[in-house]
Amino acid sequence: MLREVIKDKTHEAHQKTEGKVVRKVKSIKSEQDYIELLKCFYAYFSAVEKEISRFVTVDVLSDLKERRNAEYIKRDIEELGGSVADLPEVTLPSITYTLDALSAMYVLEGSIMGGPYIVKMLQKQGINRAFSFFSGYGENSGKMFSAFVEVLNKYGENPDTHERAVEVANETFTNFGEVFTPVTAQ
Ligand code: HEM
Repeated sequence: MLREVIKDKTHEAHQKTEGKVVRKVKSIKSEQDYIELLKCFYAYFSAVEKEISRFVTVDVLSDLKERRNAEYIKRDIEELGGSVADLPEVTLPSITYTLDALSAMYVLEGSIMGGPYIVKMLQKQGINRAFSFFSGYGENSGKMFSAFVEVLNKYGENPDTHERAVEVANETFTNFGEVFTPVTAQ
């Protein structure tokens, strides 16, 4: 099944991106810093979602409308008194087919699994509100991810498509990581 392949082959990219997010979260000292973190997520997630939406409609993913999206991040930013102006630059993964879009979406949907850990880390940093995005689907998160994975596996039934799917997912992880540590800043 494509999910097992993609999970295994993006493990390293997950670790690297997770590390960058964790470092950023641990450096948070105020709600203003939290707004900056959310703006990184918003810049990337809203841009990638827009690309994905060219291919993934309710005909592909029937519960699309019930899924978390970047609007949640905007809501959290605004709850904290910030705005989505002056966003960091992002590089999009290359999305040309439905399976590319689902592979990128695997990364965005999967990130919900990390949400509860991020909320706990934020609370340790003294942040206590604007968690709608990182709360994901709450106790339904596992179920929602399984439903997504079914569709991913269906579109990725042919093993010949797996290499490309893995490539797009890895690119989606890596480009997100670059929002936190731009290449130019290294
Ligand atoms: C503090 C940061 C993060 C932590 C601690 C974390 C932790 C985790 C954990 C524990 C899982 C496995 C959940 C389970 O199997 O029940 C998971 C899955 C996943 N995470 Fe993260 N994560 C973090 C950030 C991210 C980010 C930023 C992304 C993407 C942008 C991401 C993408 C994924 C994906 C795609 C999966 C699903 C893997 C699969 O089961 O197929 N994570 N994460």
